[in-house]
Amino acid sequence: MTKLVFVKPDGTEMTVEATNGSTVMQTALDNGIEEIVADCGGSCSCATCHCYIDDAWQSKLNPPDEIETDMLDCVLDRKPGSRLSCQIEVSDDLDGLHIALPSAQF
Ligand code: FES
Repeated sequence: MTKLVFVKPDGTEMTVEATNGSTVMQTALDNGIEEIVADCGGSCSCATCHCYIDDAWQSKLNPPDEIETDMLDCVLDRKPGSRLSCQIEVSDDLDGLHIALPSAQF
C-alpha cells in the first residue's frame, strides 16, 4: 500500500492508504475528501479533481498530456503545480506524496 497525504486549504493533513494502479482522484473519493469533486468520473473532461503537487514530487509523476494541459486552463486558481488528480496513477514511487487541495473546484 502507498500512503498519500491530502492537505486541506486550512493546512490540515489527512494520510490515507492508496491502492497501486488506482488514481489519486479515486483515492480521494474513497476516503471522503470533499475538495475533490470528480464530476466526470476520471475521464479528464471536467477539471473538478484539480489539486496541487509540490515541485519536489513533479519528477516522479508522468507529465500532463495535452488533454490534461488543456483542461487545466479551466480550473479556478491554476498554479505551476496544478494537476488533475484523475490523471495521477498511484504507485510505490508516490509513497508519501502530498496533494494540496484547492479551496474550491468551480
Ligand atoms: S475527474 Fe474529471 S477531469 Fe478528473
